[in-house]
Amino acid sequence: MDSIIVTGGAELSGRIPIAGAKNACLALMPATLLSDEPLTLMNAPRLSDIKTMTLLLQSLGVEVTAMQEGRVLTLSSHALSSHRADYDIVRKMRASNLVLGPLLARTGHAVVSLPGGCAIGARPMDIHITGLEALGAEIELRDGYLHAVARGGLRGAVIEQRFASVGATENVVMAATLAKGTTVLKNAAREPEIVDLVHCLRAMGARIAGEGTGTIEIEGVERLGGATHRVVADRIELGTYMIAPAIAGGEVELLGGRRELLPAFCEKLEAAGVTITQTNDGLRVARANGRVHAVDVKTEVYPGFPTDLQAQMMALMCTAEGVSVLEETIFENRFMHAPELMRMGARIEVHGGHATVTGVERLRGAPVMATDLRASVSLILAGLGAEGETLVNRVYHLDRGYERVEEKLSACGARIERVRGE
Ligand code: UD1
Repeated sequence: MDSIIVTGGAELSGRIPIAGAKNACLALMPATLLSDEPLTLMNAPRLSDIKTMTLLLQSLGVEVTAMQEGRVLTLSSHALSSHRADYDIVRKMRASNLVLGPLLARTGHAVVSLPGGCAIGARPMDIHITGLEALGAEIELRDGYLHAVARGGLRGAVIEQRFASVGATENVVMAATLAKGTTVLKNAAREPEIVDLVHCLRAMGARIAGEGTGTIEIEGVERLGGATHRVVADRIELGTYMIAPAIAGGEVELLGGRRELLPAFCEKLEAAGVTITQTNDGLRVARANGRVHAVDVKTEVYPGFPTDLQAQMMALMCTAEGVSVLEETIFENRFMHAPELMRMGARIEVHGGHATVTGVERLRGAPVMATDLRASVSLILAGLGAEGETLVNRVYHLDRGYERVEEKLSACGARIERVRGE
């Protein structure tokens, strides 16, 4: 297994290109199942999660062609051969459940394994199921699999989600594009990845209004066609690299970055004393001399502070001046990075969904363990500002969501290298 060694203390200076959004791409790829014409995705990120989704779609009979080293993906579902998403693939990645809605809408059948235990919480699927049942699907749980059928096809409905789930919104919107009649989805998720999916579905011929607001209206159409779509910038990768100069000092320009992708996050960083400037090419982020100030953070659905940046923010707060409280409201078990940061000298107390961080002058490098995707990158960020060497083990989590992290950071002067495991 690979590990990453970071030697702290180097100020950063340079430019980092932001890739296409993993989470947008993972919803866009299954949209191919809605049409028998090809869907081309430009600006796809090169990540192991994208490979996992490719394998899953191929197991359903989708033809996937990658060009430009995986930056351009063409998917064709003209000859689907299966409607079963196997446990072997789904257990690796929860986003596999995004084939449920489109398969059901296109073929009238879907058998999708439940994702099983996930390190950051229970993450059930009740909101997906309730939404698809409202569209007329019959869904049963047997042998760990959801068996869904839509006898006579799906019908539009008014649905109010009990929580604005990102995945459930994506599944229901995709399914409703081919349903008979109009669907009104209330308490829909508003994340930029949903907006990106809707733009793509519209290019395929879907009739949808209200994306980016809490109510999305979908008027079902007979069939969808092919399209070419450019994946939106990855706001979580953007936020992660915005924290790098805030921890290490210096100035970095994030190419393709836009403030509106991360409104609440930008406000918090500025309150902590970080300077953010919109340039023609992206966002420039700088930390002047001295430590950042402690700020309190509460994770919320978009446009609030993203849960996927909570671990990275905690890494920053470890060396802030003062005491900060981080509250996690989206996932129930998402502070696994705290004990690892404490091995580096951080002062953190976790009580349920709250973590209280008392900033220290400097962290010290240590061997640490990556426990999930965002936790692993938070340890690398912490290592950038720490004294000495930080060895981050089990970085396969990192490769699920960050492409070439060591190259992007070392191009800005960070001392970071990957050690290949057997
Ligand atoms: C997506 C993102 C993930 C991000 C999360 C929240 C992708 C591929 N992943 O995950 O990176 O952290 O949004 O912004 O886009 N829930 C239920 N029942 C359901 C569905 C969800 O209780 O049917 C709960 C979950 O357990 C969790 C919360 O709702 O506590 C948020 O989940 P959701 O918004 O669905 O996240 P994902 O789509 O899984």
